[in-house]
Amino acid sequence: MSQNIETVLTEDRSFPPPPEFAEQANVTPEQYQQMWQRAKDDPAGFWGELAKSELDWFKPFTETMSGEMPNTKWFADGQLNACYQCVDRHLTTWRKNKAAIVWEGEPGDTRTLTYQQLHHEVCKFADVLDKLGVQAGDRITLYMPMVPELAVAMLACARVGATHSIIFGGFSADAIADRNNDAQSKLVITADAGWRRGKEIPLKANVDAALDKSPSVEKVVVLRRTGADVTMVPDRDFWWHDLMDKATPDRECTHVDAEHPLFILYTSGSTGKPKGVLHTTGGYMLGATMTTRWVFDLKDEDTYWCTADIGWITGHSYIVYGPLSNGATTVMYEGAPNWPDEGRFWNLVEKYSVNVFYTAPTAIRAFIKWGDQWPEQYDLSSLRLLGTVGEPINPEAWMWYHRVIGGEQCPIVDTWWQTETGGIMLSPLPGVTATKPGSCTTPLPGVVPAIVDEQGNELDANQGGLLVMTQPWPHMLRTLYGDHDRFVDVYFAKFDGKYYFAGDGARRDEEGNYWVMGRVDDVINVSGHRLSTMEVESALVSHEQVAEAAVVGFPHELKGEGICCFVTLKTESDASDEMKAALKQHVRTQIGALATPDQIRFAAAVPKTRSGKIMRRLLRDIAAGRESAGDTTTLEDYTVLAKLREDE
Ligand code: WT7
Repeated sequence: MSQNIETVLTEDRSFPPPPEFAEQANVTPEQYQQMWQRAKDDPAGFWGELAKSELDWFKPFTETMSGEMPNTKWFADGQLNACYQCVDRHLTTWRKNKAAIVWEGEPGDTRTLTYQQLHHEVCKFADVLDKLGVQAGDRITLYMPMVPELAVAMLACARVGATHSIIFGGFSADAIADRNNDAQSKLVITADAGWRRGKEIPLKANVDAALDKSPSVEKVVVLRRTGADVTMVPDRDFWWHDLMDKATPDRECTHVDAEHPLFILYTSGSTGKPKGVLHTTGGYMLGATMTTRWVFDLKDEDTYWCTADIGWITGHSYIVYGPLSNGATTVMYEGAPNWPDEGRFWNLVEKYSVNVFYTAPTAIRAFIKWGDQWPEQYDLSSLRLLGTVGEPINPEAWMWYHRVIGGEQCPIVDTWWQTETGGIMLSPLPGVTATKPGSCTTPLPGVVPAIVDEQGNELDANQGGLLVMTQPWPHMLRTLYGDHDRFVDVYFAKFDGKYYFAGDGARRDEEGNYWVMGRVDDVINVSGHRLSTMEVESALVSHEQVAEAAVVGFPHELKGEGICCFVTLKTESDASDEMKAALKQHVRTQIGALATPDQIRFAAAVPKTRSGKIMRRLLRDIAAGRESAGDTTTLEDYTVLAKLREDE
């Protein structure tokens, strides 16, 4: 592998933390050094002390860490509740009447929930779950817009010990059905519809279609959001407000074991069905709590806004669990960044006087495209810290973010992590680290990464290789739901269980900064979200006129990577623009709008190795309009390649 990953980026600009920032930061350089070394040498001691001081336990744990990676358990004989960490524990402090969630809907409606109000709602909805027959350990699907009730539903699940599985509102009925079936969900919580660019996303209708194919689901709770017409099936579907009217507000937290499953979140793998990444309670909550405090430098006075959707891990850890566990004020916005115009985010920053702002490179590229005149119309001087996540950020986008949004005053934390890691792993600490555009810099305390070759040998500085983690950490995934063998196989088998393999290529420079170069397998990163090329291929092949499909990513100005599909039709003469449109629509229906192909190219055949493996590297070159320099000696039929090029 090492010889396959080329370093093309050289970046010398460096931005030390502004002295005023460093002075007030939650972590100083000395503390970072000390914590990092301690956590490396004595992970049990380091995390054990933090778990005792930073989390509230109903039953204290006696053993911090047990078992070898990949089956390490954390705080296993302790009991706690994630909802208690996020809500109840603040009620005995002055934060009782502090804003927990500041929410704005796309049409401009607003709501603020204090910790006390959040508690009231969550307790009532927990009572609703009880009355619907939900038991600890049951799986519940949430398919909702970005409204406060989504956070309420998550926390209520945690309160009663049910495991939530949140599905991003952009996914289709088939994707919901697959996930319902995999998790054997009993209950779906949804809304009539959600707002997106002034249009209604028909969430309930999608759920209805999914339920034809997911028999485990017995009941559906429907929140009224837009007022859209929906069909309510008697004895199966219930309105949120009807149930809440009858609920009582005194439901206590169920005491769950630290290793009790908190949530499943589905993410793409390179082959087969999506992977149900499972996170547990104690370790995840400790990771979410500490990384939020270290990386975002949260202060009680801060207004903090992460623009992600709660349907992704970023929203789980850094809109809900991390900020609320810290007693912070977290902003939630329902809609699109360009509705009613391209200034919406900056309008929100000004209106709520946001201090800490966390978004994705794909969004930043869109802001750049829309032009500086949008942020320039607003007062962004409240901002003191900026963050990014989801994919490598191009240095020029970083510089724009620094200059135009940060006014050259705000440190930028480029945070590398994954659904599987539960929380941020590599990131600058804003009062400690000199940042470099394009680098996620250094590991957080408790994170001990390495760059290795295919054989697991550690590589020297500036050699591109595979990014691995050499020590377990509390907030790592515990398994892939229902498929522990696959879990071991995907993340640990490559290096005989010794390392966690993240699937990313990276290098470390001579100063110890990490530069992530992207995924090494067949997963593409579209707008900061992993999509499996394999799933898009399956969707295409399920179309009756398609014989074969090969899907690759190509560099895309806004999305990071776009989706290019090479399609062989059963009847070559069917190739037409209408067919292209039909196939795009087909993928959209099968997977969701996120997976809509950017390009469909008809091909008489796709290049394959003699063993029948599609040579994606060649297709990637073609999709990107590059000459293929690489090795083609394993190619079965050379003429295929020449034909594909002619067709461009
Ligand atoms: C993959 C994880 C973590 C929440 C969002 C995506 C890429 C993520 C960075 C970054 C370079 C990054 C990696 C990673 N990635 N953040 N700061 N720099 N690459 O979660 O869907 O689990 O995807 O996103 O390739 O493996 P995810």
